[in-house]
Amino acid sequence: MSKNFDVIVIGAGPGGYIAAIRAAQLGFSVACIDEWKNAAGGPAPGGTCTNVGCIPSKALLQSSEHYEHANKHFADHGISVSGLKMDSAKMIARKDAVVKQNNDGILYLFKKNKVSFFHGRGSFVKPVEGGYELAVTGAQAETLTGKQIIVATGSSARALPGVPFDEENVLSNDGALRIGGVPKKLGLIGSGVIGLEMGSVWRRLGAEVTVLEAMPTFLGAVDEQIAKEARKAFDKQGLKVELGVKVGEIKSDKKGVSVAYTNAKGEAQALEVDKLIVSIGRVPNTTGLNAEAVGLKLDDRGAIVVDDECRTSLPGVWAVGDVVRGPMLAHKAEEEGVAVAERIAGQHGHVDFNLVPWVIYTSPEIAWVGKTEQQLKADGVKYKAGTFPFLANGRARALGDTTGMVKMLADAATDEILGVHVVGPMASELIAEACVAMAFRASSEDIARICHAHPSLSESTKEAALAVDKRTLNF
Ligand code: FAD
Ligand code: NAI
Repeated sequence: MSKNFDVIVIGAGPGGYIAAIRAAQLGFSVACIDEWKNAAGGPAPGGTCTNVGCIPSKALLQSSEHYEHANKHFADHGISVSGLKMDSAKMIARKDAVVKQNNDGILYLFKKNKVSFFHGRGSFVKPVEGGYELAVTGAQAETLTGKQIIVATGSSARALPGVPFDEENVLSNDGALRIGGVPKKLGLIGSGVIGLEMGSVWRRLGAEVTVLEAMPTFLGAVDEQIAKEARKAFDKQGLKVELGVKVGEIKSDKKGVSVAYTNAKGEAQALEVDKLIVSIGRVPNTTGLNAEAVGLKLDDRGAIVVDDECRTSLPGVWAVGDVVRGPMLAHKAEEEGVAVAERIAGQHGHVDFNLVPWVIYTSPEIAWVGKTEQQLKADGVKYKAGTFPFLANGRARALGDTTGMVKMLADAATDEILGVHVVGPMASELIAEACVAMAFRASSEDIARICHAHPSLSESTKEAALAVDKRTLNF
């Protein structure tokens, strides 16, 4: 017999589980279906983000950063360490424990908010009077009927054509997060977000890392000045990035992986590595949804076609997160999930795509929100730019990390902040002030007039705002 709900969410990643909780808060009866299994075959809600994405990658970035500090930077503070060792199995076990805490946290939140959770694959069966019938298959077989359906099935790593992931030698983000020991030589294809974050983890632990990138520019979507500063820091650390390459044949055997490629000068090259991470973007998860049964429209990338408000081609069916257009980021998925639940309730949920921040959790961290200088130029917008280097910030000096800067871009006529770009320590935290300022349509003068705690890294944001008006106080 079918179980009936007001709202059924397929997928319990950040888009889905947050949509389910918000819909329940708004008084709907809600079910959430997710098929992710933990090592014991049990439910592991949280999607890519919790299981093989944001959370585990940040756990490994933290562990490897501690190791690098102990190895290279403690001595500057007068701390000597002898017999420093890296137990990578323990590091992985800690990461797994952090993931489990998050899985359990979501199951707890479902209970607390009275969301009915179904462990298995959700797929469309047919439209029914006033809604849709869905099948749950796998661990738990059920038939559910929902008046409104939110699809939040996320994305998976894209493989190179003809080079499937074996997760032993050729790794997706999944295998990259559970490499047994530190590889002597590690190769990465793609110097995007995963390439830089995962490359940093294993470089810090002692691997010789080479990243092969097809594009001729480094981090093309990032403000050029910021990307240049980051590249300088990565070069200094020994993270080797080759731009403008064309990857050819990849052979993998027990000894490792060999990658044939052509470099930017057109010369044939070979890279021999113990492990290869392929991080060339992600594809939306729509296979298994049985979208054809109900005529749900997909685009040529396999993403679900939605309008600005996440409405699909079918009445009462919505889609959010990585499975639709836009940046593949957990917080973007969450915002869309909340907005859709509110729209179902007749409210006016809203996501401002210009204010979705980006963070790359390398060292230095890179974070930005709004427009880059090159975008403003291309759009013909007249702007003023202000930068402030962490070198001149007292807190950064005390921390022992003065890499990078804060850069602010403001409209030349109105002074409204159009973009903020940070490369340096705690950029991930500093960017929040910029998001708040831009959400309130602040001017650079507004930030310049706000009292910031001393000594703090955030004083660099204030100084960058002062720099827009060419009146920094500490530089
Ligand atoms: P997902 O998180 O992919 O969740 C989808 C869920 O749906 C999964 O559990 C899947 O099993 C389930 N599912 C799919 N099909 C079905 C079906 N038919 N039936 C039932 N269940 C189904 N983003 C950030 O913002 N910050 C970061 O630091 C960050 N780090 C990342 C690091 C890595 C290594 C990776 C790979 C990604 C990272 N991301 C990060 C991106 C982030 O993980 C995604 O943007 C986010 O998880 C998307 O959320 P989602 O809910 O759309 O989909
Ligand atoms: P990406 O889109 O960030 O980077 C992929 C890179 O691979 C690009 O630079 C691209 O030019 C390059 N590339 C593509 N095909 C290639 C080829 N054949 N040979 C060589 N290079 C090639 O994708 P990535 O790193 O896989 O990450 C996927 C997504 O996951 C990100 O876009 C982001 O949305 C999300 N993510 C977010 C993180 C964060 O917010 N901190 C961390 C990790 C992932």
